[in-house]
Amino acid sequence: MDLDTYLATGRGVVDEALDRFLPQEDARPAVLHRAMRYSVFAGGKRLRPILAMAAVEAVGGDPRSILPLAVALECIHTYSLIHDDLPAMDDDDLRRGKATVHKVFDEATAILAGDALLALAFEALSSPGMARMRRPERVIAVIGELSAASGSRQLVAGQMSDLLSEGKPVTREDVEYIVWNKTAALIRAATKCGALLAGGSLEEVALLSRYGENLGAAFQIKDDLLDLEGDAAKLGKAVRKDEKRGKATFPRLLGRDEARALMAELLQKAQDAVRSFGERAEPLVMIGGYILKRVN
Ligand code: IPE
Ligand code: IPE
Ligand code: MG
Ligand code: MG
Ligand code: MG
Repeated sequence: MDLDTYLATGRGVVDEALDRFLPQEDARPAVLHRAMRYSVFAGGKRLRPILAMAAVEAVGGDPRSILPLAVALECIHTYSLIHDDLPAMDDDDLRRGKATVHKVFDEATAILAGDALLALAFEALSSPGMARMRRPERVIAVIGELSAASGSRQLVAGQMSDLLSEGKPVTREDVEYIVWNKTAALIRAATKCGALLAGGSLEEVALLSRYGENLGAAFQIKDDLLDLEGDAAKLGKAVRKDEKRGKATFPRLLGRDEARALMAELLQKAQDAVRSFGERAEPLVMIGGYILKRVN
C-alpha cells in the first residue's frame, strides 16, 4: 500500500464532502460563509476524517458510509484552529500556509466562523444520511462522543489549561492533561466513532479508541517538536513560538530526546492496539509511521 496515495485519495473524498456540506459563499451573511470556507479549504491534512475512515475499514465497513462524521470532525477541528489562532489565545498570523481568519477578515468574524463550524458539525451528524443508519443507537452514541470530546472536559479543557499554564512551572501530569485533552481526545473520538458507526464490536471499538488516543498524543508531541525544529514554509504556520510563550509541552518538560522517545513509545502502543485487525488495519499502522516522520 502506498500511504501518500491513500492520504491523497482520503483528502479528495473529504474535501468533496465538505464542499457539498458547507453553505455556499454567497449565502447570507456572505462574509461569514466566506470566512468558513476560507479556513476549511485553506489546505489541512484532513487527518481526523481520514483516521475515522481508516477505522471503518479496519472493522470491514465502507468508509464512504461515514462521510457526515468525516465532515463533522473536520468542522470541529477547523473551528478549534480558528479560535486557537485568535489574539486572545495563541495570536498567530499564519495557518495552513495562509493568513489566519482574523487577519483576513476580523476577530468578530473569526469567532463567529468558529462558532458556526462547531454547530455545523452537529448538523452533519444528525443529517438524513445518519438518521438512515441501521443502528440509530450508535448514531446517538457518536453524537455523545463528539460533543464530549469537544467540550469543557476534553478539547476545551485542554485549550483552557494550555493557556492557564503559559509561563508557569508544570508537572508531567499537567502536560499529560493538556496533550490528552486538547488534541488526543478528538483524534480518539475520530477512530472510536468510525468504528461505532461501522458496526464494530465493543472490543474493536475499544481497541480503535486506544489507537486514536495514543496516536493523538504522539501527534501533539510531534507538533511541539516541529515548532522547535520544523520549517515554517513546509508547516504553513509560524515556528519557534511555543518557547517564547512558555507553552507547557513535553519537549519543554523532558527535553527533545526524551519527548521523541515518548512519542515513539505512544506510536508503538497505537500500532500494537490494532495488530489483531491484520491487513485491514494496514493504513492505521502506516499512519503511525507517517506521524513520526511528518514535516507538516
Ligand atoms: C494542528 O492540527 C493542531 C494540533 C492539534 C496539533 P493539524 O496538524 O492536523 O492541522 P491541519 O488540519 O493539517 O492544518
Ligand atoms: C492546538 O495546539 C490544539 C487545538 C487547536 C485544539 P497548538 O496551539 O499547539 O496548535 P498549533 O501549533 O497552533 O497548530
Ligand atoms: Mg494552542
Ligand atoms: Mg496554536
Ligand atoms: Mg503547536
